[in-house]
Amino acid sequence: MNAPRVPGDAGADDGPVIRTEGLTKRFGRIVAVDGVDLQVPAGSRFGLLGPNGSGKTTMVRMLLGLVHATSGTAQVLGEPMPRAAASVLPRVGALVEGPAAWPGLPGRSNLRMLDAAGTRGGLLVRPGARRRRVEEALEQVGLAGVDRRPVRAYSLGMRQRLGIAAALLRRPPLLILDEPTNGLDPRGIGEIRRLLVSLNAGGTTVVLSSHLLSEVEALCTRIGLMDAGRLVLTEDMDVLRAPTGRVIVHTPDPDAAARLLGGVVEERAGTTVTVRADDPAGLNAHLVSRGVAVTGLEVERRTLEQVVLQRSGSGADRFDPARNGRSRAADDDRSGPSTERIVR
Ligand SMILES: Nc1ncnc2c1ncn2[C@@H]1O[C@H](COP(=O)(O)OP(=O)(O)OP(=O)(O)O)[C@@H](O)[C@H]1O
Ligand SMILES: [Mg+2]
Repeated sequence: MNAPRVPGDAGADDGPVIRTEGLTKRFGRIVAVDGVDLQVPAGSRFGLLGPNGSGKTTMVRMLLGLVHATSGTAQVLGEPMPRAAASVLPRVGALVEGPAAWPGLPGRSNLRMLDAAGTRGGLLVRPGARRRRVEEALEQVGLAGVDRRPVRAYSLGMRQRLGIAAALLRRPPLLILDEPTNGLDPRGIGEIRRLLVSLNAGGTTVVLSSHLLSEVEALCTRIGLMDAGRLVLTEDMDVLRAPTGRVIVHTPDPDAAARLLGGVVEERAGTTVTVRADDPAGLNAHLVSRGVAVTGLEVERRTLEQVVLQRSGSGADRFDPARNGRSRAADDDRSGPSTERIVR
């Protein structure tokens, strides 16, 4: 779907579509979100990444006005939330943990009812137009051929697809999706990724939260990394994945390659030799001209996993249940992951 640009839509030059300052949410003693200053550029595919319990869903819920911040401010599409919810929400397609639906009705009927309830619905919309919108959304998420079984009989993946279809109905300029591929198999994950990339190419800003590094790495152009309620890193993927300045040489003769390359060799393992080099083509020519066969040459880049491990206390997609309800001080002697902040 290519969302048609409407005057007043957030376009690529209009500054951030989401801006928060000092956004904080406490649940009793738990600081779920802790002083987050976040900016999401228009036109980006932004990944809010973080381990379980790091505050992603709470961030999303505050942005959508589903939960009130304890302190701080949030603007979505240039307007304050939750104050401007009535004008902002019709322009935001949202999916938050466990999409809601009328369980006794088929998915198609669910979408028709949602569509009729929206500001683009109403009595003046011709039924044909509504039907087309619903069919288009179903098609986009791979549910075009779905039968009349009620949503209660849907698999987890089908419910998730239906939730995404509901988010797409109004052709919003901004999509905010919390763990959109939850419950989908690898093929489904790939389909949703391609859909989000194509919507983004048509001008839709996509914000998704995920605890899956691979999902964010494959989809996003920019990431915000949450850790224990804090935003600990915001960066473009291009920058994070810039070459490290090292090249990995695959060769059946690593001894000869290492001898020839001498001082620039940094690591050896099996049939690979890792060298500091900024000219892979020159390196290849050098080795081949001296009779060393090269079967592969890779410019080394940091993986998102390495970045996350460096920048967050937890670094892994895990939540340590032993911490639940315990104060941070009680864990100070532990070097395990920290995913939750508790105020005493
Ligand atoms: N309604 C609530 N009442 C009490 N605590 C809450 C509530 N909602 C969230 N929390 C707590 O706030 C913290 C952040 O939770 P949140 O659901 O935002 O994390 P998340 O990053 O979305 O995690 P996940 O990857 O598991 O979905 C957790 O410690 C959670 O237990
Ligand atoms: Mg969550």
